[in-house]
Amino acid sequence: SFSGHGELCARSRETKQFLLTGKEALTQFPSLGAPGGSGPGQGHVKQCELLQLSRKQRRLCRREPGLAETLRDAIRLGILECQFQFRSERWNCSLEGRPSLLKRGFKETAFLYAVSSAALTHSLARACSAGRMERCTCDDSPGLENRKAWQWGVCGDNLKYSTKFLKKFLGQKRIGKDLRAKVDIHNTNVGIKAVKNGLKTTCKCHGVSGSCAVRTCWKQLSPFHEIGRLLKLRYDDAVKVFSTTNDAVGHSELAGPHRHGHSGKQPALPRPTDLVYVEDSPSFCRPSKYSLGTAGRTCSREGNCDSMCCGRGYNTQSRLVTFSCHCQVQWCCYVECQQCMQEEVVYSCKQ
Ligand SMILES: *[C@@H]1O[C@H](CO)[C@@H](O)[C@H](O)[C@H]1NC(C)=O
Repeated sequence: SFSGHGELCARSRETKQFLLTGKEALTQFPSLGAPGGSGPGQGHVKQCELLQLSRKQRRLCRREPGLAETLRDAIRLGILECQFQFRSERWNCSLEGRPSLLKRGFKETAFLYAVSSAALTHSLARACSAGRMERCTCDDSPGLENRKAWQWGVCGDNLKYSTKFLKKFLGQKRIGKDLRAKVDIHNTNVGIKAVKNGLKTTCKCHGVSGSCAVRTCWKQLSPFHEIGRLLKLRYDDAVKVFSTTNDAVGHSELAGPHRHGHSGKQPALPRPTDLVYVEDSPSFCRPSKYSLGTAGRTCSREGNCDSMCCGRGYNTQSRLVTFSCHCQVQWCCYVECQQCMQEEVVYSCKQ
């Protein structure tokens, strides 16, 4: 269940100006510039200036009304999902240390690339179907009765457009021997694929009392939390790779360890769904240029305190929390609640 996530979102919304200060550069992904002044109602060209974009990206942004806002939404979506998925890990995806992390080849770097590209793909496809972009609209791929669906006022999420646009926007080129560039592109594509695999066909019947005389179908993206959860599982099983020259093809490619039941002289290629990395991660226990360390982090005693606190032990503190209780619906139309208090024990990692 994602009930905890709803709270996270609400809290994060209040602090987003603090969270997103523009230091969180994503090398090939856009990031947010200085906060402030970026509200709706400003011209979209102006909004493009507020994002940190490459020259080519800025050109594309200016040409596409609606894109700047969609990019901003996507960056937030990716960051919040990352923080949610890593809330009980030593590395909690805070923005502190992110620029250094993105230059390395850790598993965490892989996740950041994948979740960012997934968020961009997802937000762009949604923006198309919601009519927030000028140059794209509902999914019009053949096979489904999309045109008919439009008639009924349903609009499929346009993943085809968003994927194509994103590849152009990120400017993926074939890069000869550069291992890191290959790894980044691979992980970016894992993110795009995760969104694609979550695409579901939804159908609706029309006609007298459910007779289904007319059935319309359209494609719908799964909620972004599902994609985030999938990518987190991929992070847990990420594959360490190195560069190898495939003599048969004559160029270098990524190779991982042999998989179970897989033999032969050639090392196994990572699957298109595997997140890949090239360097072992630091422990993230102590403050470093990659994170603030885990001192002061809350943990759960039965769960992750030992690993989160890196063996330093934890403090136990009890505190009173208030919550709404004994709620009753009053005629008409509001809910009246009492405030109850409860003692709660909080564990947090020692220095
Ligand atoms: C991540 O952990 C640090 C402490 O190590 C804390 O200051 C920060 O607020 C946490 N960030 C999130 C998003 O939970």
